[in-house]
Amino acid sequence: MNKSELRKLIRRKRRSLTPQQRRQASHGLLTSLRQNARFCAAQRVALYLSNDGEIDTQGVIEDLWRRGKQVFLPVLHPVRKGHLSFIRYDSNTVMRNNRYGIAEPDFRRGKRVSARYLSIVCLPLVAFDQRGNRLGMGGGYYDRTLAFMTQTEVAGSNGQQPELVGCAYAFQQVPQLPAESWDIGISAIATDQEFHPFQQT
Ligand SMILES: Nc1ncnc2c1ncn2[C@@H]1O[C@H](COP(=O)(O)OP(=O)(O)O)[C@@H](O)[C@H]1O
Ligand SMILES: [Mg+2]
Repeated sequence: MNKSELRKLIRRKRRSLTPQQRRQASHGLLTSLRQNARFCAAQRVALYLSNDGEIDTQGVIEDLWRRGKQVFLPVLHPVRKGHLSFIRYDSNTVMRNNRYGIAEPDFRRGKRVSARYLSIVCLPLVAFDQRGNRLGMGGGYYDRTLAFMTQTEVAGSNGQQPELVGCAYAFQQVPQLPAESWDIGISAIATDQEFHPFQQT
């Protein structure tokens, strides 16, 4: 199966879940993330608002807010085409729909942070494999935005790089994905079933 067929198949399965299955999985995702010490200690966490049947992150966002953490959402960069910017998200954030119909914080009014200064970036994905390869929707947005992770001396003020945690249903795991030269892998996966760190290579 090629990448586009695989995307179609898994996206269809993702969209076919019942509301009850979605609720259950959403609780499971939060439980998985809370097992990870770095998630529990993180001060600045980027999430995404679920779209196209993606595992629901609302419970995770509310958990972070309750614990006084800073939450950020990706916004399509208006100038740097194909790149994302991360903007602070709280209950007062002014939102607008982007060209994919996904709600995002208003770029001009929002508080921006460089991805380097995030503790954790939670990435949506269509499929992942046992080595931490990630298949996205096909836009390459996260690959471009996080390309700095492969360069040296990229540490932020905390002296660390953000941890890249894929969020998905367990059924989105496939045996093996092709890793393209530009693909940025994830360092861990959080599903409705478990939190699993990948071996650093
Ligand atoms: N760092 C990058 N610089 C330039 N183009 C990129 C970069 N990362 C990804 N792309 C382009 O984005 C497109 C989609 O990438 P792909 O990895 O297939 O999507 P996704 O990660 O969403 O599954 C590819 O055609 C690729 O050339
Ligand atoms: Mg990619």
